[in-house]
Parts: sequence; C-alpha cells; structure tokens
Amino acid sequence: MRPVNRGEEVLLLLKGADGFISGEKIASVLNISRTAVWKQISRLRKEGFQIEAHPRMGYSLVLSPDRLLPSEIRDGIKTSLIGSEIFYYEKIESTNAIAKNLAMNGAKEGTLVIAEEQTRGRGRLDRDWLSPANSNILMSLIFRPNLQAAKAFSMIMLTSVAIVKAIQVTTSLVAQIKWPNDIYLYNKKLGGILTEFNAEQDRVNFVVIGVGLNVNFDPCLYPEIKDTATSLKKVMGKEVKRAVLLRSILEEIERGYSDFSKGRISQIRSEWDHYSLVTGKHIRIHSLDNVEEGIAESIDDDGCLILRDINGNTKRILSGDVSLRVSE
Ligand code: BTN
Repeated sequence: MRPVNRGEEVLLLLKGADGFISGEKIASVLNISRTAVWKQISRLRKEGFQIEAHPRMGYSLVLSPDRLLPSEIRDGIKTSLIGSEIFYYEKIESTNAIAKNLAMNGAKEGTLVIAEEQTRGRGRLDRDWLSPANSNILMSLIFRPNLQAAKAFSMIMLTSVAIVKAIQVTTSLVAQIKWPNDIYLYNKKLGGILTEFNAEQDRVNFVVIGVGLNVNFDPCLYPEIKDTATSLKKVMGKEVKRAVLLRSILEEIERGYSDFSKGRISQIRSEWDHYSLVTGKHIRIHSLDNVEEGIAESIDDDGCLILRDINGNTKRILSGDVSLRVSE
C-alpha cells in the first residue's frame, strides 16, 4: 500500500535507511525543500516518533510509538481494500458511530475507523465496552457487500475467524470463537464484534463491523470485568505491538471477505468450527424472552447456530447469550 501524505513518505525513508539519512537526500527523493522536511520531522516527533538529528549525518528513527497511527498501520500492510482509507482518532465516543456516519455519507468499502480511546464504546445489546486510552484495538470497518439484509450477520463469521487466525500468527496463542460474536482466550473474554447495518427493502447498503480486542490493558483494574475478561498482555506477560496485530487482522479480514464475496462460505465455516468454543458442547442460549438448551452442532451459512435439543430435533438460533453447562 502506498503512503498517502508527506509525513508517511518521510517516515518510510527513515524506516528504510540503514542508520542516518540526510535532510538533503529526503528533500531530493520527495522533491520538497529542506524546510518542508524539517516540518515533517517535527510533526512526526509530536506524534511520538523519536527521531535523532545530527548536523552532518541527518536524521535517524530511534523509536516508533505504540500508536495505531495510519502510517504505522500502513507500514508493510498487504491489503488493497481493507484499510485503503483510514480515519484515526485519539479519543471519540465510538468508532462504530463514526463509521456509520461516514458510510451514510458515501465512504468507500474498506474504510477503517480507528481510535486510541472511546468514551462511549458499545457492545451487543447496547452494553458498555471498556475502551481505555492507547491499550487495545478499537476499530470499525465499512463494507458494502452484495447481500440480502437477512444475511448481514453472516459477516461476523469471517471477522471472528480472521481475528483468531491473526492472533495465532502474531502471538502463537490459540483463541476461540464463542458464538455469536465473542473471542475467548482460556475461557475469558478477549474481544467482541459489533455488527450494524443499513438496508433498503431487502438489500444491504452497508455493514459496519466493529471490533474491540483487549491487547495491552489490565482487566484486573476494572472490577466490573476483572473475573470475566482477559487481555493478550495478561496471558503473555508482556506487551503486544498493536500495529503488528492490527495489520494481520486486516489482512486476514481481506482474505476472508474475498472468499465470502466469491461464495466460498464452506471454507470459512470449517475454520469457524475449528476455532469454535461451543461446537459439540451442551449449552444454554439465553435470548430476551427465552432459553434454549441442547448440543451446539455447527453454524450455518447465515451465521445461525444449529442446536440439537434433547429430543434430537435441530433448531436454527439467530442470536443470544451462550452459557456452557457447568458439567462441561
Ligand atoms: C460485544 O462483545 O458485545 C461487542 C463489542 C464491540 C466493541 C467494539 S470497540 C470498537 C467498536 N466501537 C464500538 O462502540 N463498539 C465496537
């Protein structure tokens, strides 16, 4: 993916340099003045990049911040659609709210909204999503699939598979998918997916997929979730470079979305089964006014869970909160 602004172009040259690179060289490669180079260096420093300056040798990048800045996300990313436009915020209410607004105003498919902190992060059923600053992945993606409204939630399947695959590639940890929209690690919640869409008659206009993933925060600091949530840092005992993990998630989503768009759902479904926490287990599914119980058999193409009850009858369940039977 190509850099989109001067700051990113300067950063790429700094990253590609073996040690120092002179201001003169940067200026001539980018066809800009030495003053313009200096301005970009100051801007990068304000964003948290540590750049050493030497009167004769020029500039050298010492340290990149653990910020999900567009330049950091784009650095070496292998996607063409997902993240082709990036909207970055230090602090906003909710990336899903921003993404819905952008989508209503015609934003392109693949647009990524990313925030370091959310003041009103939302989960399913309007639950709160804890989103402290500079710690986790808080993002939303805009899709414009050729899909009937009833099938919009099937995109949760490809997103959850993409997330667990990216976690495995980046950290070697094998997280699990808890239907319908949770990511679990060692039986504690690591992340969640919030899917919202806008449809006309029977056709989807856009789907916004929001992902919250607990990367570097300490859930023990939050009494309301300390017993039920976890983070990658908590399990690994060290911080994870969020930009590396995010790039991998975006790449896996692009791969999954390409399969999904070509109708190759069976491949995604079998990967979903492989990572599923509930498949083959005796579960209860709590919805607003009902509780269903049985063995979770699989998921269908629409993302519905197939549940076999005590009498051997199967049911398609659209949504609900799953609890595993204590004996399991
Ligand atoms: C859930 O587990 O219920 C889903 C949680 C989804 C949280 C993410 S964080 C980024 C995006 N913006 C939001 O307000 N929510 C989603």
